[in-house]
Amino acid sequence: MRNSEIAISIKNLTKFYGKFQALDNVCFEVKRGDFFAFLGPNGAGKTTTINVITGLSNYQSGDVKIFGFDTTREYTQTRSLVGLCAQEFNFDPFLTIHQLLVYQAGYFGITPWIASRRADELLDRFQLMEKRNSKHRALSGGMKKRLLLCRALIHDPEILILDEPTAGCDLELKFLIWDYLAQLNKEGKTVFLTTHYMEEAEKLCKTIGIINRGHIVRIGDKKEVLQDKSLEDVFIEVTGQE
Ligand SMILES: Nc1ncnc2c1ncn2[C@@H]1O[C@H](COP(=O)(O)OP(=O)(O)OP(=O)(O)O)[C@@H](O)[C@H]1O
Ligand SMILES: [Mg+2]
Repeated sequence: MRNSEIAISIKNLTKFYGKFQALDNVCFEVKRGDFFAFLGPNGAGKTTTINVITGLSNYQSGDVKIFGFDTTREYTQTRSLVGLCAQEFNFDPFLTIHQLLVYQAGYFGITPWIASRRADELLDRFQLMEKRNSKHRALSGGMKKRLLLCRALIHDPEILILDEPTAGCDLELKFLIWDYLAQLNKEGKTVFLTTHYMEEAEKLCKTIGIINRGHIVRIGDKKEVLQDKSLEDVFIEVTGQE
């Protein structure tokens, strides 16, 4: 890794959808090993930022790096360093969930035999073994969420990016996911998470970034940010989504 201390670096990022400006001069860094919560109301620009970081979306100007590698020019390096658990389901409808994980691993050069073993470990961890040979449409909403997590983790990425990973999950599943994310972070993985559940951000993260209408409002240590009274308006919008 070219820069081993800064996992994600975003400088002066501007993104338009047609004439609509979704991101305006966004700048922030996420340190290696951090647990970073990216908060903001609906439409603030969280998923757009994630799409840029993961190379799913283009942008008009700025500089976006993963461990020092440029996400546009050096995308082969950056893709394998990141695992994405997207906000929406986007699974291949023709594959069983086990095949789907093995195929995903193939994009990162993992041999089918190793991928199959790893897929089974993840399916087991997220209690999906009994659906191993089913297609994703046979899964419940919460099960699909868990499958998204398995897919994000299949190539053992350094950075895990999770776009509302526990939205719509029951309490038991939420706690299972929280425990696993905390464990991964303890083992050294960098976690970048968006959520509308303040409890989730408070419990898990070390650093909080807040975005509103495409602008970064605040980045800082969790305690400092949560105590900052000037952010109440944004937090009211955020918690109002629950
Ligand atoms: N493909 C697109 N085409 C046009 N506008 C888009 C597109 N994707 C997002 N937008 C707009 O960009 C803005 C930011 O959207 P984004 O999905 O990044 O918000 P978000 O912070 O993830 O919100 P949420 O909490 O609802 O998931 C919104 O105004 C949205 O309507
Ligand atoms: Mg979103």
